[in-house]
Amino acid sequence: MTGSGDRRFVGTLHLLLLVATLSLAAQGVSRSAAAWTQEKSYHQPALLNLSSLRQVAEGTSISEMWQNDLRPLLIERYPGSPGSYAARQHIMQRIQRLQADWVLEVDTFLSRTPYGYRSFSNIISTLNPTAKRHLVLACHYDSKYFPHWDNRVFVGATDSAVPCAMILELARIPGIKHITPNPTFPNFFPNSARWFDRLQAIEHELHVFGLLKDHSWERRYFQNYGYGGVIQDDHVPFLRKGVPVLHLIPSPFPEVWHTMDDNEENLDKTTIDNLNKILQVFVLEYLHL
Ligand SMILES: *[C@@H]1O[C@H](CO)[C@@H](O)[C@H](O)[C@H]1NC(C)=O
Repeated sequence: MTGSGDRRFVGTLHLLLLVATLSLAAQGVSRSAAAWTQEKSYHQPALLNLSSLRQVAEGTSISEMWQNDLRPLLIERYPGSPGSYAARQHIMQRIQRLQADWVLEVDTFLSRTPYGYRSFSNIISTLNPTAKRHLVLACHYDSKYFPHWDNRVFVGATDSAVPCAMILELARIPGIKHITPNPTFPNFFPNSARWFDRLQAIEHELHVFGLLKDHSWERRYFQNYGYGGVIQDDHVPFLRKGVPVLHLIPSPFPEVWHTMDDNEENLDKTTIDNLNKILQVFVLEYLHL
């Protein structure tokens, strides 16, 4: 999700990974044992009907997400800093209190940065770890290092506190001072284009049924205007391992990107609320929940 296009400081990732299992065992049995690695290519979502869509849209609580998931992340949290430790503790506590059996792991390692070796920790939370196939939701929870300036600290609200909070909100399923009220997310990769199409279709459906707030179809979020250019972001290690990636990052970046103004005041609650709803429907349909 939203990350930095320029990761000069953070050469290595500091990720929150939420790994949800596909509940699709029955669908795979007719295929040969060797074919399961290809099943992702023809995986189909189970579309939600209107009453389920309503339930998702009405069950998403932006104020709860804001208070409980997001606020504690809006601190300086570059790798190795006290804030990074606090952010990690917060994320793990939020995951531990969930009812489903998430298995939590922390992968800590040293990596070189322009400021010498630093400690990094990825948080990996997995549902049903023995499953063969998973849907991975990933974002970076660290913030880029900036020296303090005029008593201001960089909290990276969009980069990537909000995406991490959205993922935490998503895990609960069984505003941008109006500077950038309508971010648009292009599609980046042909091999995940049909999943991008699902995001567009879900946005359309929720729009038509009036389940999104202050949402204009002319300024919809998921717009397909050809493939976006390469953005150096947290998805790159996955790409290198051959994982099909649906990279959700607004283009252009928010105006506040990599500035001290990337803070809570400049977040647009309505947009984040609407995006939560779209992503929740997407994941429910993908996992046939
Ligand atoms: C909508 O889908 C849900 C979940 O699959 C199902 O329980 C419900 O009966 C469906 N409602 C209608 C009106 O089809």
